[in-house]
Amino acid sequence: MRDEDARSILIRNDRGGYTVPNGRVYPFQWNWDSAFVALGFTAFDLDRAWREIESLFEAQWPDGFVPHIVFWKDDPGYFPGPDRWDTKTRPLTSGITQPPVAATVVRDLWMQGGEQVRDRMAALFPKLMAWTRWFRTHRDFEGRGLVVALHPWETGRDNSPEWDEPGAAIDTSDVAPYQRRDTSHLDAAMRPTTAEYDRYVALVDYGRERGWDHARLARENPFRVADVGMTMILLRADRDLLALAEALGRDAEAEELRGYIARAEQGVDWLWNAEVGAYCSRDVLTGRSSGFVTSASFLGFYAGLSDPERDKAVLAALTRIGEAVRYLVPSLDPHDPGFQMIRYWRGPVWAVLNYMIGRGLEEAGQEGLARRVREDTRDLIRQSGFYEAFDPTTGAPTGGDDFSWTAAVWLCWAGR
Ligand code: DGY
Repeated sequence: MRDEDARSILIRNDRGGYTVPNGRVYPFQWNWDSAFVALGFTAFDLDRAWREIESLFEAQWPDGFVPHIVFWKDDPGYFPGPDRWDTKTRPLTSGITQPPVAATVVRDLWMQGGEQVRDRMAALFPKLMAWTRWFRTHRDFEGRGLVVALHPWETGRDNSPEWDEPGAAIDTSDVAPYQRRDTSHLDAAMRPTTAEYDRYVALVDYGRERGWDHARLARENPFRVADVGMTMILLRADRDLLALAEALGRDAEAEELRGYIARAEQGVDWLWNAEVGAYCSRDVLTGRSSGFVTSASFLGFYAGLSDPERDKAVLAALTRIGEAVRYLVPSLDPHDPGFQMIRYWRGPVWAVLNYMIGRGLEEAGQEGLARRVREDTRDLIRQSGFYEAFDPTTGAPTGGDDFSWTAAVWLCWAGR
C-alpha cells in the first residue's frame, strides 16, 4: 500500500516534466527536491526520472548557475514569488542555488539505465560540469574546496541555528512590507520565525538590487557561511561526476574534477570542530565555527571522507543522539538548548538527510547505524505518512503532507 501511495503522490505532484514538492506550500520546481524526486521515479518510470533532471537544467543560467526555484508558472500561494526575485531570466527563477545533489542522482540513473541512457547522461554531463565550475568560481572560499552559502535557503536547512549568529549581520531595517504565505498553509510553530523571515527577504532584496551579479555578491553579501552540508554534497557530487567523466573518456574534465576533490578533502579540515567532535558550518566573515551538531554534520561518510579519529568521534555523536531520541537523525542535537521538536530545521527528522546519511554509513561499512537510520525512516513514514518532516521524539508529522521527496525516499530506499 505504501508503495502505491508514494507513487500516486509523485504522479499527483507532477506538473508535466517537473514535480512540485507539495502543491500548496511549494507550488514550483525546487532544485534539490527535483533531484531526489528523480530517484523516486526510478522505481516505476525511468524516462520520467531523467525528465525531472533535464527540466531543472533547462533553467540553468549561462554562467552555469542552477537556481533553487524555477517558476514555470506563477502561483499566488507562495512568497517570495518571481516578482520579488526579478531575475529577468527565461524561465523566471530565483537568484540563489541549492545543495548540488543532481550529479550523484544522474550517476544513479545511469547505473540503472546502462547503455540505453548513455546519450542522456552525456547530454547532461557538460551542464553538471558547468554547475560545479560555477561553485568553484563563485563560492569556493579561498580556493579551499568549501561551499559558501549566501542565503540560508541555499543550504536547504533554512532556519538551522547555524545561521543565527552569521545572520545577525543582515540589515532588515529597510525590508519593504511583505506577506508570508507559508503560515497561511501551516502552523507557525512548524515554520521559521518572523525575524528569520525578515532576514531571508532582506537577502533576496539585496541580491535583486545588485542584479544577481554572482561575482559581486560573492565579495559583498552580508551573509557568507561555509556550509558543511553543501560542502559535503558537492564533494560527493564531484566524485560521481568524475565517474561519469571517466566513462565518457573526458580526460581533461576528469583531471579537473580530481583537483576539486583533492582540494575539498583538505579543505574540510577547516570545518572540523575538535571541541564538539563533528564537522560544523563556519562563518567566513568572522572565521567562527557554529559549534552546532546538525544532521548535516553526519554527511562526511556520504562525501567519501575517512579518518579514523574523526570517524570515531562522529559515530559516537550519532550514537549519543540516537540514545536521546526514538528516531534518528534529528536536524539538531537534542541536547542543544535550542532543540525544538517540530520547528523545521531545529529538531525534526528529514527523510532526505536520512537517505544521504544512511547511504554514507552503508558505504562506510557502518552497518548497525546504517540499519537504524534506514529503519527509523521507514517506521516514521509507516506511522505518520509522507510528511515534510517528523518529530524525532514521537514520530508525529510536521510541515506539509503528500511530500514528494519523502515519497521518493520511500520508493528508492526506506521502503525497499
Ligand atoms: C521556503 O520557502 O520555505 C523554502 O524553503 C525556500 O526555499
